Amino acid sequence: MMSLHAEPAGLMADLRTVLGHAAVLEGAEMPARNSLDWSNLDPVPPLAVVRPADTAGVAAVMRLCTAYGVAVVPQGGLTGLCGGARPVAGGIALSLERMSGIEEIDPASSTMTARAGTPLQTLQEAADAAGLYLALDLGARGSATIGGNLSTNAGGNRVIRYGMARDMVLGLEVVLMDGTVVTNLNKMLKNNAGYDLKQLFVGSEGTLGVITRVVLRLYPKPRCTMAAVCGLADYDSVLRLLESARRDLGPMLSAFEVMWPDYWGFISALPQVRPPIGEGHAVYVLVEAQGTDEALDQPRFQSWLENQAEAGVLADAAVAQSLADVGAFWSVRDAVTEFNRVIGPHEPFDIGLPVAAIGNYVKACRSALENALPGAVALFYGHIGDGNLHVAACLPGAEPQPKERIKEIVYGLVRQFGGTVSAEHGIGLSKKPWLPFTRSAPEIALMRRIKSALDPDGLLNPGKVV
Ligand code: LAC
Ligand code: ZN
Repeated sequence: MMSLHAEPAGLMADLRTVLGHAAVLEGAEMPARNSLDWSNLDPVPPLAVVRPADTAGVAAVMRLCTAYGVAVVPQGGLTGLCGGARPVAGGIALSLERMSGIEEIDPASSTMTARAGTPLQTLQEAADAAGLYLALDLGARGSATIGGNLSTNAGGNRVIRYGMARDMVLGLEVVLMDGTVVTNLNKMLKNNAGYDLKQLFVGSEGTLGVITRVVLRLYPKPRCTMAAVCGLADYDSVLRLLESARRDLGPMLSAFEVMWPDYWGFISALPQVRPPIGEGHAVYVLVEAQGTDEALDQPRFQSWLENQAEAGVLADAAVAQSLADVGAFWSVRDAVTEFNRVIGPHEPFDIGLPVAAIGNYVKACRSALENALPGAVALFYGHIGDGNLHVAACLPGAEPQPKERIKEIVYGLVRQFGGTVSAEHGIGLSKKPWLPFTRSAPEIALMRRIKSALDPDGLLNPGKVV
């Protein structure tokens, strides 16, 4: 039908024939947003933005691009921070945005089947309306789509209780670069029939296949949510609080978010944030628990906190009195989606470290940044119960930003402390040079063997991850 490396004009004509004119946008028709994700890299306009309406359309795009030797970069909600969804020059951007919607909620299996382009928040709300709970949650919930969440194995706020995106997926449909559709919309919690292929695609950042449909595991809707924001005198107290929360709240513990003073001061100044406790603490913790019986669980949470205060673990705490309070408490964390607008160009990190080492890491990292780059700003916060620390670092006013120097310092210390360069955001483009800090040469070689087995021509999201 077509020959390899024919004129892309032929590809465009073929794509229009198969998908219809409205699904193929070129030149000035292309939305600017498709040239970049939320990373701080430079935008790259694609050859075209292609928006199929269904799995068969995705398969057709993949077959045609393989025949023409044109690269494909899959795109979801474009909220990734590492450039994984940034187009490549001369390649198409394959947007899943038209493949949105929920196909089924199955209460007996406690699952939801949805199309990959559905925003996370839409899925959360649909689960809620059905009396169930989709536990995956993160600040970009309104824009991020489930296909992107799974392809990056997103983490987020409730990993301590429910695990990462990987732990919430039971079934998957993916399209390979050669156009093969692999459908396994499994709903069973147990299925040990051979290799768990879906997990190969979860976290591979669109380099092995394009996720088109998903089956998610749902949980019973929590009947009550308790939350507190605490001020503590040092990181050792954070460790004591975490240990007691695990022990005394047991499976109710659903989030344990930690914020250091630079972060707290900065976020507190934003107009949409009403900080529940005052400044002056060495470290701040937002702790959340989800229960099944308010009359029992609320007092249990309250007395746990009181015990911690009596034991000297807490210096101050505010307890949510209503769900509105819980939402207000979370605003101190969700405001990070505004970083770009309010602190300007910065380098975002999502490193992982052994939990016990995080306090010392923060001290070492802050002073190394200050010594190397006087005037540097570094905001530290993260999902510390998961060993996941975020750093947003910049040198205010510097143009260009000393990005490489900042990365050398942050990742150099990660290697020294035995951590990972990515706990939850993935590698994409911006962290690719640092992958060897965390993965051994045999691990990287095996990743490349898997990549070339599934995408021998290197056309699917080329240059990303490995
Ligand atoms: C957060 C994002 C940046 O936790 O992962 O705020
Ligand atoms: Zn995070």
